[in-house]
Amino acid sequence: MHSSKWVGAWATGAAMMFAASAASATTVGFAQTGHESDWRTAFSASMQAAAKEAGIEMKFSDADQKPENQVKAVHDFIAQKVDAIVIAPIVETGWDQVIKEAGEAKIPVFIVDRDVKVADRSPIVARVAADFHLEGKLAGAWLAQASKGNCNVVELQGTVGSSPAILRKKGFEEVISLFPGMKIVKSQSGDFTTTGGKEVMESFIKATDGLKGICAVWAHNDNMQLGAIQAMKEAGLKPGKDILMVSVDGVPDIFKAMVAGEANASVELRSGIGKEIFDVIKGYLGGKHDYPAWVVIASDLHTQADAQHMIDWWASQKKGG
Ligand code: AHR
Repeated sequence: MHSSKWVGAWATGAAMMFAASAASATTVGFAQTGHESDWRTAFSASMQAAAKEAGIEMKFSDADQKPENQVKAVHDFIAQKVDAIVIAPIVETGWDQVIKEAGEAKIPVFIVDRDVKVADRSPIVARVAADFHLEGKLAGAWLAQASKGNCNVVELQGTVGSSPAILRKKGFEEVISLFPGMKIVKSQSGDFTTTGGKEVMESFIKATDGLKGICAVWAHNDNMQLGAIQAMKEAGLKPGKDILMVSVDGVPDIFKAMVAGEANASVELRSGIGKEIFDVIKGYLGGKHDYPAWVVIASDLHTQADAQHMIDWWASQKKGG
């Protein structure tokens, strides 16, 4: 009798403790840009895996490259009283009001990848991101060397108003402006997608009578470059041989294109940074409040020389190596 009463009391106590700990579990809202590129999908997977590993519940919203969806997702996270909000912004502008509201609700905000331009950054704990300006400079420096400083370039820009499109262009232009024989002769946005890159390249091919006088294609991401490669091959051109191909991201398909001799160089934007991001969030929620405003992720340049190595590396990541 005694013992069954004790078991009952223990079970009730344990159930209450479980309910309390479930109710106090950490919840993070992640407002993701979309799924426009292979880089983006790999980044989302890394965030899901890191949240699971950290024992944090992550509410995931895919804005499908529409800024209004993304602002709404952040409003919803505030209403749900999440413990922290992570934003991977599509464009830099339009964030003042909702970030202010997160601050008023005392919900810390973490910016990842692209940046925001807001008058008051105080609700933002830190930004975890690569240096897009440096990526543009690395791409420009590679091309200056490969073309010996003489090159007419066509450029496939990323999403208009996004920080990688703005800063990669700026960094690239700063470097090529040091070479009187280098210039961008055509430039248009392909919105960071394979389809966008293909369509823009088709129009460039028409406008230049089959890329006459063009020495290189500079694309702000690999997916647009992969689209450009398709368009060029369909027009009977030889990307990677007659025309130099340089882009950013370092996704598996661009390394396969390099091994096939159809692409030449890509600046790697690391996608597996979920752990770094969740380490910062956990650290902050655990009381560490001295993070730098920008936690910088390194960028590396890869070429045909190490393309096979990068394919093997990606395969080992998939196997969990
Ligand atoms: O913001 C980073 C960029 O967004 C990546 O280079 C591109 O692939 C993605 O769409």
